[in-house]
Amino acid sequence: MNETRLIANGEYFSQLEVDQEDEMGQLSAAINKMSKKIGEKQQELNKQRNEYQTLFERVPCIITVQDRNYRLIRYNREFSQKFNPQPGDYCYAAYKGRNQKCAICPVERTFEDGLSHFSEEKGLNKDGSPTHWIVNTAPIKNQEGEIIAAMEMSLDVTHVKLLEEELEKSEKKYSAIFDNIPNPVFVLDMETLDILDCNDSVEAVYGYKKDEIIQTSFLQLFREEERNHYQNLIKTSSVINQARHFNGSGDLLFVNIRISPSDYPGGKALLVTTSDVTKRLEAEQQLIQASKMATLGEMATGVAHELNQPLSVIKTASRFFIRKIERKEKIEDEILFTMATEIDSYVDRATKIINHMRQFSRQSDLTLEKVRINDVLERALEILGQQLKVRGIEVVWDLAPDLPQILVDPDRLEQVFINLLINARDAIDEKWQSQPHQKGEKKITLKTSSDDNKITVEVGDSGPGIPDSMLERIFEPFYTTKKVGQGTGLGLSISYGIVKDCKGSIQAVSKKNEGARFIIKFPIAREK
Ligand SMILES: Nc1ncnc2c1ncn2[C@@H]1O[C@H](COP(=O)(O)OP(=O)(O)O)[C@@H](O)[C@H]1O
Ligand SMILES: [Mg+2]
Repeated sequence: MNETRLIANGEYFSQLEVDQEDEMGQLSAAINKMSKKIGEKQQELNKQRNEYQTLFERVPCIITVQDRNYRLIRYNREFSQKFNPQPGDYCYAAYKGRNQKCAICPVERTFEDGLSHFSEEKGLNKDGSPTHWIVNTAPIKNQEGEIIAAMEMSLDVTHVKLLEEELEKSEKKYSAIFDNIPNPVFVLDMETLDILDCNDSVEAVYGYKKDEIIQTSFLQLFREEERNHYQNLIKTSSVINQARHFNGSGDLLFVNIRISPSDYPGGKALLVTTSDVTKRLEAEQQLIQASKMATLGEMATGVAHELNQPLSVIKTASRFFIRKIERKEKIEDEILFTMATEIDSYVDRATKIINHMRQFSRQSDLTLEKVRINDVLERALEILGQQLKVRGIEVVWDLAPDLPQILVDPDRLEQVFINLLINARDAIDEKWQSQPHQKGEKKITLKTSSDDNKITVEVGDSGPGIPDSMLERIFEPFYTTKKVGQGTGLGLSISYGIVKDCKGSIQAVSKKNEGARFIIKFPIAREK
């Protein structure tokens, strides 16, 4: 029976050919049927094995099977392509070119406790480039439940790793930039204005260490009574100029603040930078002061006149008293009263002038308050009125009544008008000095008006005017056409700065043969 031997050898598809109707015939039919079934099952098994084999080979991750000594029993294509193992290689040799096992080995632990383990590894590809992979292990047991091998599955994460490294590098780069920006930078919670982060410059400027100030409120840097005001402002504006801040030692700083909304991990945040302008403001302050002193000098003769008048009245009165007393004559009560009253009012007038001068020369911070512009003009004339009169210069008033108030610094604005009036005085003087008997009036006009949004002040004169070529330059610091000792060239540049600080604008216009006109505009202060 050759066929039965073939079947025993696994050749299930050879058929017995017994064509008998007896028992032998039935037996051979049964054997035939059985061998066909076995053949089909075997085929199916082979197919499945092939499938698994292909799966094992083709999965896009690295699979190895190792024995207790980390010798590679099997591995898939991915592994052999990547690491080029030699037959009988050890895991550590193939993966990393080592000659003994790694200190921490998930396969070792799987053999110890029969559980899956995980690790992250790095090594070199066969082309020498660095590679990272994450490793999972699982035990392979025999029928008795003994661990006979370990399967190690590795996933190449080199790409992700490189991205992570890139990210880390760029994070480092940005954090280095962030920390090295010379201005303080704060990241604020949009709602609470708490400081979420800040850069190293904060310590240099404010004297607070990073961890001291993080999680505290940004508003604490402000004056207590101004915090509410700034809380709203920070949330609604992008620039705040000349805010008062306090540093860690309680010193006052003036800062310009820039605010911009930005995305931040965990939501939206405000990115706030501050720049310390204290020094600059101090320098400006000194310049303003210097120009004030110069203005005082320019006014000195006029003021001397102004003081002379009350003094001469008082002198006349006192001479009268002395003569009367020498002659032992009685002074009538009524006359005595009239003269005493006169003296009293002239002393008041002199005192007023002196106080005004003293106040004018005082150094002060910029303080904005609601002001009636007409009042400021009238005050400026109080100091200068007399000397204009002495020169025969007429002041023409054209003030609009009941103007809305504006938010300005009245002392500094007075300085602006005094500068303009002195310039007008000098311009008129200049014109009449060259031609003393010319026609026309010596005249300064002061005009105020308003529209819906702003108030306009105009200071005009009947001087020679300003040539077009000069109009652009007159606001430059130290630009002067006057003789040494007569002009400093600071008046208009300081005035320009003051008007700007009060959120206004100043402009000069001059037409031929018409004199000069300075037009100043301020926004109307609105009720909140
Ligand atoms: N009202 C004016 N009429 C003609 N020129 C003027 C007038 N105001 C200013 N200027 C010109 O602008 C220049 C700069 O003025 P200013 O800054 O006040 O400096 P200063 O008065 O010390 O020269 C003056 O020197 C003058 O040439
Ligand atoms: Mg001047």
